[in-house]
Amino acid sequence: MRSQRVAIVDFGGQYTHLIARRCRELGVYSEIVPFTKFPEEIFSEDYETLGIILSGAPRSVDEPNAPKFSAEDLLNVQVPMLGICYGHQLIAMAFNGELKRGTIMEYGRTCVMVVERDVLLMDVPDQFIGWMSHMDSVVRHPPGFKVLALTERGAVAAMKHAERPIYGVQFHPEVKHTQMGSSILKRFLVDVCGFRCDWKPVDRVEELSREIAATIPPDESVICAVSGGVDSVTTAVLLNRVLDKRLYCIFVDHGLMRKDEPEQVVATLRRMGIANLIFVKAAERFLSRLKGVKDPEEKRKIIGEEFAKIFEEEAAKIPKVRWLAQGTIYPDRIESGSAGSGSALIKTHHNVAGLPASLRLKLVEPLKDLYKDEVREVAKRLGIPEEIVSRHPFPGPGLAVRIVGEVTEEKLRICREANAIVEEEFKNAGVYDKVWQAFAVVTDSSWTGVMGDARAEGYVVIVRAVESEDGMTADWYRADMDLLDRISKRIVNEVGNVTMVVYATTSKPPSTIEAC
Ligand code: XMP
Repeated sequence: MRSQRVAIVDFGGQYTHLIARRCRELGVYSEIVPFTKFPEEIFSEDYETLGIILSGAPRSVDEPNAPKFSAEDLLNVQVPMLGICYGHQLIAMAFNGELKRGTIMEYGRTCVMVVERDVLLMDVPDQFIGWMSHMDSVVRHPPGFKVLALTERGAVAAMKHAERPIYGVQFHPEVKHTQMGSSILKRFLVDVCGFRCDWKPVDRVEELSREIAATIPPDESVICAVSGGVDSVTTAVLLNRVLDKRLYCIFVDHGLMRKDEPEQVVATLRRMGIANLIFVKAAERFLSRLKGVKDPEEKRKIIGEEFAKIFEEEAAKIPKVRWLAQGTIYPDRIESGSAGSGSALIKTHHNVAGLPASLRLKLVEPLKDLYKDEVREVAKRLGIPEEIVSRHPFPGPGLAVRIVGEVTEEKLRICREANAIVEEEFKNAGVYDKVWQAFAVVTDSSWTGVMGDARAEGYVVIVRAVESEDGMTADWYRADMDLLDRISKRIVNEVGNVTMVVYATTSKPPSTIEAC
């Protein structure tokens, strides 16, 4: 039987992943499909698509190059459809509604008034708060559509085709600030599309094991790059269940790991029954190549290259290797906006598509359809220890991106110790699991201090903690002052050579999460 899914058509809007995640939280498997693949991918052989959601976009629907579909395109797909924001406007335009640019602009919490109580709005009060972010608006609904709700300034907030299950909403039901937003999505998924809402990420464990067994022929081996993070450890453990001795895990210690991390990862992999574990201690190799290098992209490039070289050397020693397993997860693969909006390269993430092509290995990426929190659930089901499951994400290039400028031994020592203190204090305060990441950065700046009676020069260390759903956007964490005080005192007193600790209070955007 084919699995059921809702397809989210991506026009590059900032909330596309959020829509996909909310559907999954409601028990409906969702996938993001670029608008350029509409409608072919909707009728994928692998899935039965029971519903379509057209997402938002960072542009106006009446711009010359903006993606558009005709009424015929939309009617032809024959499955229920919900347009959100840009999707709503696209539907209105396709069916000859009237749109205006810049006359009714609404941002943030906006009052929405229900005009007709259709199934979609069954659970909301007569007036409710909808989260808006639009410059254009639908000022007159298309012929053949019914208005279900209006915004306080008179734009069409929700509408429905009179005969077909085609809906449009101007507000964002996927954003938590929309009152009963999840109920609106659930009504669409259950009552309009007919989903059962019984999908769970852990159901994927058995399915994934079957897929791995069916993909890898019995006489071929797989190598798996393990970084120690939850994604790669889960990939390795999953593969190990099926492949046993045909799996070779390569774990490279590049010398830029967190305190005690290499030992912990090796112990965990052994405990989880990984028979062929190749542990490469390569700190010297990486650190000598990083000497004198200040530029962040150059540092990433060197680490990526060196990693690929080591990997290639080790892989060459293993017989009958035809496959490379990677812990790629869904957001690594589908970057919202990649479908035509031309998102700029912000940083090179070397764990995606960064391993040597010369190995000519086929890729196996069992977690490629899961979000981080779903991977964590799978990891728990597989019995992976809590300290790995709940550990904060850590960048592939390690502490090198938490050291501004050159990576020296002294800055690396400070960075590792300070990071351990931040993690420990967040855990002691019971807030470690509330944040996406909490860490310390060593800057290239110094600050004059007085230690005892003497004048001292030391480094400035930045403490950063952020809340985020997937690392793509993030808000700085409003930490308790006493917690910051404890962290600050411990870093200065215990680490040494630090004379100032500051707290980072900029969100992403405009900053990135890591320092460089
Ligand atoms: P940024 O700093 O780009 O980080 O806002 C977003 C998320 O990605 C992680 N990150 C990386 N991961 N290689 C990785 O594997 C990298 O070079 C890299 N840079 C950032 C970061 O920790 C955060 O969770």
